[in-house]
Amino acid sequence: MNENRHLRVGVIGVGSMGAFHAKELAQGVVARARLTAVCDPDRAARDRFEVPRFEDSRALLRSGLVDAVMIATPHYDHTPIAIDALGLGLHVLCEKPLAVHKADCEKMIAAYEARPQKSQVFAEMFQHRTDPPYRKLKEMIATGELGEVRRINWIVTDWFRTEAYYRSGGWRATWRGEGGGVLLNQCPHNLDLWQWMFGLPSRVRGFCRFGRYHDIEVEDEVTAYLEYDSGATAVFVTTTGEAPGTNRLEVAGERGKVVLEGDRFSFTRNEMAMSEYSRTTSERFTPPAVWNVTIPMQTAGSRHRGIWQNFVSAVLDGETPIAPATEGIRSVELGNAILHSAWTGQTVTLPLDAVAYQRALEERAATSRYQKPEPAPATDDAARANGADITKSF
Ligand SMILES: NC(=O)c1ccc[n+]([C@@H]2O[C@H](COP(=O)([O-])OP(=O)(O)OC[C@H]3O[C@@H](n4cnc5c(N)ncnc54)[C@H](O)[C@@H]3O)[C@@H](O)[C@H]2O)c1
Repeated sequence: MNENRHLRVGVIGVGSMGAFHAKELAQGVVARARLTAVCDPDRAARDRFEVPRFEDSRALLRSGLVDAVMIATPHYDHTPIAIDALGLGLHVLCEKPLAVHKADCEKMIAAYEARPQKSQVFAEMFQHRTDPPYRKLKEMIATGELGEVRRINWIVTDWFRTEAYYRSGGWRATWRGEGGGVLLNQCPHNLDLWQWMFGLPSRVRGFCRFGRYHDIEVEDEVTAYLEYDSGATAVFVTTTGEAPGTNRLEVAGERGKVVLEGDRFSFTRNEMAMSEYSRTTSERFTPPAVWNVTIPMQTAGSRHRGIWQNFVSAVLDGETPIAPATEGIRSVELGNAILHSAWTGQTVTLPLDAVAYQRALEERAATSRYQKPEPAPATDDAARANGADITKSF
């Protein structure tokens, strides 16, 4: 480990999330990294920091003050800023989602592949990849402990958001400003964990309701049916309009069933693989005998700090990134496919046609007549300004 080197980091976009990252870096929370510049077109936002401040990302990237940048801007800007930074030889940690649509992800990955320095690191803030339950489940699938996966159901309806939330930030919840709703803003984490643990499906049928619970034009309720070439089927349900919400992931495999809900990780293990038992037993109704396995573990991993520390170690010591940005295209593709299916009323086959999706999205943005209501003062703004842990809601 290289103890003497330090990474000079600039944060681009210091709104809610970027300010959190910038404060952590300024306070020395991330070992061997320090905040050396910030950038935001909003003067009040950038003036909160006592490091060189820039209005325009191009100036920060060319200032010579940074080795690496965190991009925490609205989603459409992730693409041009990342491409610019990578072309200049800088390391990049990008907030989720990697981009709004698959075609933009492809451009970012092409820029990374053409990077001037082979050692450049390009990673994404997928902090839930550090959570022990998902790591354990991924391992159980990879090692065959769970057997071949037959069915996946994930209900993620605990992303509750209010009208006051949607009114904040002019870019939010519009086709033109954000490029989507719950699939683009809240669910990139779930969709990334999904593809990370189970891989991408081959066919997707999505059902979305647009502005069902809020005065917005994008989706705030989603049900998707997914099929894999292996024969496995899956249902993914999410919304920002349900309270109290649920977060329950149930995975049925040949060798048993895993349920993740709240702080519970339960594994009911079949003594004999389900299909083999069904073929060989003389029983007519009795399922295979099971063992109930309790796997004690913490729900939360090292999250944002873990991804930061790993990013710094990836740059300084050559450690493998936990969430390489090149993998970020998959969750974007899955979210895009669900939306495209809902718009067309058809099953979408993956790989998604990136050009057709971009065209359909641009048409929605161009023909939108949606008028965003005026922002309402939010009662939790003061708490956030005083340093409340905003990441608890992410
Ligand atoms: N990983 C997580 O836990 C998590 C949580 C929340 C948000 N996010 C992500 O962080 C990003 C920002 O979200 P937010 O909630 O902080 O939004 P926000 O609206 O609070 O902040 C965005 C900031 O970017 C600034 N900005 C806009 N265009 C810019 C540009 N071209 N260059 C520099 N700055 C620019 C805005 O002025 C604003 O201050 C999004 O990608 C979002 O999905 C991640």
